[in-house]
Amino acid sequence: MKKKNKTVTIEGTRLQINQKDTQYIPNNQPIVGYEEILSRLAYSINKNIPLLMIGETGVGKTALIRHLAYRTNNSFRRLNLNGQTTIDEFVGKILLNKEGTYWVDGILTDAMRKGHWVLLDEINAALPEILFVLHSLLDDDKYVVLSEKDGEIVRPHKNFRIFAAMNPSGKYTGTKDLNKAFLSRFPMILRMDFPKAQQEKQIIRTYAKKVEQVAIDKMVKVANDLRKSYKKNEIEFVCSTRDLINCALIAENRGIKEAVELTMLNRCNEEDFKAVDTVIKLYFGDLKGGAPLPTMPTPIKQVEILKFFKKQLKDFEEFHEEVDVLRDAIKEPTSSKPTLGMSGRMAKAMEFDPIAHEFLMEQLGNIKKITSKIPKK
Ligand SMILES: Nc1ncnc2c1ncn2[C@@H]1O[C@H](COP(=O)(O)OP(=O)(O)OP(=O)(O)O)[C@@H](O)[C@H]1O
Ligand SMILES: [Mg+2]
Repeated sequence: MKKKNKTVTIEGTRLQINQKDTQYIPNNQPIVGYEEILSRLAYSINKNIPLLMIGETGVGKTALIRHLAYRTNNSFRRLNLNGQTTIDEFVGKILLNKEGTYWVDGILTDAMRKGHWVLLDEINAALPEILFVLHSLLDDDKYVVLSEKDGEIVRPHKNFRIFAAMNPSGKYTGTKDLNKAFLSRFPMILRMDFPKAQQEKQIIRTYAKKVEQVAIDKMVKVANDLRKSYKKNEIEFVCSTRDLINCALIAENRGIKEAVELTMLNRCNEEDFKAVDTVIKLYFGDLKGGAPLPTMPTPIKQVEILKFFKKQLKDFEEFHEEVDVLRDAIKEPTSSKPTLGMSGRMAKAMEFDPIAHEFLMEQLGNIKKITSKIPKK
């Protein structure tokens, strides 16, 4: 279909609108804010400068390129190079049929010939043979040699654009630093941090129209507290804008507490659980009416039930004792200059006391309710 306009202006840079439609043109994906990033991306597209984006998961790297491809009516192909993408899939391969052998292009060569946009995701996890191919494409010569196809040289169509993205290396499994020689082949490198609170609230709002503003405000606070701990390497869990969007969407139907539990708390690993839980409780209180009881063995056998509750009670008693000790610590008169140990204990008591007490009381209630139903031996 003929396009109404020939160009579109993105943050001051005019870009051509591709007049040809293909199946790879993405859907409209709105971008909130990010004016400076869009301006830099538009510049790199206009000048045909390969650009590498480095940023934590979910900060919008893919969304940005997809958005610009939509606005300029260009085909968007995303390739994840996480070590499983083979050179055949990337460049192409020889196949066999009744008539003999024939060549099929890989995603890169297909996109180069047709002038599509390619986003190479997780580039720092790419296999060496893939990086090798990219070297010649990103060099001044800008071509790819198909050695298996009699050394055919593929040169990119004028609309072809290449972008790469990666998470900051080291923090994600399977990723590594890109070597300097390869890095230098991306003349522009864009670093993206988590969005500012105000901006992130607006992003979430565009996806979840019905959720209360106060819930969004709290979610963003939780995310930013957790990100501080993440940046200090205290936790591994990283709360992304993607998680917050999902949380808000689920909150629209299931309420904010369940949404936070499902999208954030349950996502973190065992080691981070306590830290994440504490931050969440700070803003949302207890997520559930009581801690969930472990699933019962079926068919339920009396001995097993009794064993189960014995353990629950033992845990409960231990926990209760700990809370009592901590509660006493609050009551203890502090010297005018509290020692470090004392203030640490106090802080822990403050952290524990109200929440732990409530939790324990509910647990006890649950246990009593269930044990009363067990017939006496
Ligand atoms: N500025 C923004 N405006 C609108 N939506 C945004 C913005 N930033 C992020 N998002 C949304 O957040 C979600 C995650 O973004 P995206 O998938 O682009 O992250 P990413 O940086 O590519 O993450 P990964 O490293 O995991 O691939 C998407 O739903 C995206 O639309
Ligand atoms: Mg992505």
